[in-house]
Amino acid sequence: MSSNDVTLTTPDHSVSLPLVEGTQGPSCVDVAPLYRETGHFTFDPGFAATAACKSAITFIDGEKGVLLYRGYPIEQLAEKSRFLEVAYLLLEGELPTPAQMHTFEDKVTHHTMMHESVKNFLHGFHYDAHPMAMLCASVASLSAFYHDTNDNADPAQRKLAAIRLIAKMPTLAAAAYRYSIGWPIRYPRNNLEYVDRFLHMMFEVPSEPLELNPVAAKALDLLFILHADHEQNASTSTVRLVGSTGANPYASVAAGIAALWGPAHGGANEAVLKMLTEIGDAKNIGKAVARAKDKNSGFRLMGFGHRVYKNFDPRAKIIRGMAHEVLDELGVDDPLLDIAMKLEEVALKDDYFIEHKLYPNVDFYSGIIYKALKIPTSMFTVMFAIARTAGWISHWIEQHEMPGGRIGRPRQVYVGATPRAFVALDKR
Ligand code: ACO
Repeated sequence: MSSNDVTLTTPDHSVSLPLVEGTQGPSCVDVAPLYRETGHFTFDPGFAATAACKSAITFIDGEKGVLLYRGYPIEQLAEKSRFLEVAYLLLEGELPTPAQMHTFEDKVTHHTMMHESVKNFLHGFHYDAHPMAMLCASVASLSAFYHDTNDNADPAQRKLAAIRLIAKMPTLAAAAYRYSIGWPIRYPRNNLEYVDRFLHMMFEVPSEPLELNPVAAKALDLLFILHADHEQNASTSTVRLVGSTGANPYASVAAGIAALWGPAHGGANEAVLKMLTEIGDAKNIGKAVARAKDKNSGFRLMGFGHRVYKNFDPRAKIIRGMAHEVLDELGVDDPLLDIAMKLEEVALKDDYFIEHKLYPNVDFYSGIIYKALKIPTSMFTVMFAIARTAGWISHWIEQHEMPGGRIGRPRQVYVGATPRAFVALDKR
């Protein structure tokens, strides 16, 4: 037993549990010996006090509102970097040299096409399918097209899958959108940069040339940076859990997309806009806040609260400033922004929200920016998925690179029936 161990005493046993230290953040009690030595499991629904893995990608200090990608503060990356550079950083662990950046960008650019059969696959959907349903299914389907990345043990194949996913996600996302509105699908243009290429695939129509707006591209790039990773959130943990079974990278990321879809996670940006639209007028804010405080209403203020951030979400701070800038520069006068501002003001002064440490999260303002960029509400969570792909696949790769990986397999507290004898159908 080392002096750093934690001793846990039960009526029958005393067990010494080692502390695991990271480079930053709280130390963790290694409970792996607990069941073996005492016959007890730990119980932590929602994993609020459980570290499920070691990771060197992203660090969050929820009390201080700190977010670092590979050690770099999000504020600096938001100001000085761009999304593809951040994607490289997340994947490789270091900022690229100019030559490395050029090669990476070139590879991403040359993997943006989707197989023509994927188009047929998308055409199988009903016209009003949600783009998240199409994205999730089409990303999972990539494993049926790329058999050259089947070997998870091969580092080169893992990297190729990562490039493919980062490159094809905007193509698939834009195709899903265009299919849903009956527009012809656009092929990716290699002469454009990542974000412009996506905007072109989204909005170009055969009847007139598209003027790409640098303000829109800058805003979208920033949103992609802010959404690129967030350590072991629900969707990333899902990618890792699926990845722990040896599933292929496309299936693992498709599972992450499914997890992201829920309104408690990435679906919140869509839910925020619906909520602001429903509130409709600043004079209804008081009623909405009262409903959110009433546990029986089943209503929460969407875009408020976070499992980890308890003082502020550093991404929300950056986005808040950006929302005003984008609306000003694009000349958009959006009453929803006024409602959002007023709602934020009221909630931040409200005792319930103060006591529960509920602050606007990243999704509170992102929807307003997407709306100003004319991105439809049903695509908001898709936008999040495009950005988070860089994080998901970096975690999937890290999980395969780290020694000692095991299948994720939690236990439970069984609360069902105790053993009983089967009763024949005619006797029931
Ligand atoms: N509005 C009103 N009350 C809330 C809200 C909210 N948005 N969020 C949490 N609370 C209350 C809960 O009712 C609970 O109250 P109680 O302790 O009196 O019972 C308390 O705050 C803690 O809430 P939990 O649900 O236990 O917190 P948890 O950490 O599990 O959930 C979550 C965090 C899911 C983000 C939650 O705050 C929420 O549902 N927010 C709205 C949805 C949202 O914006 N999600 C986006 C998250 S960020 C992201 O994924 C990018």
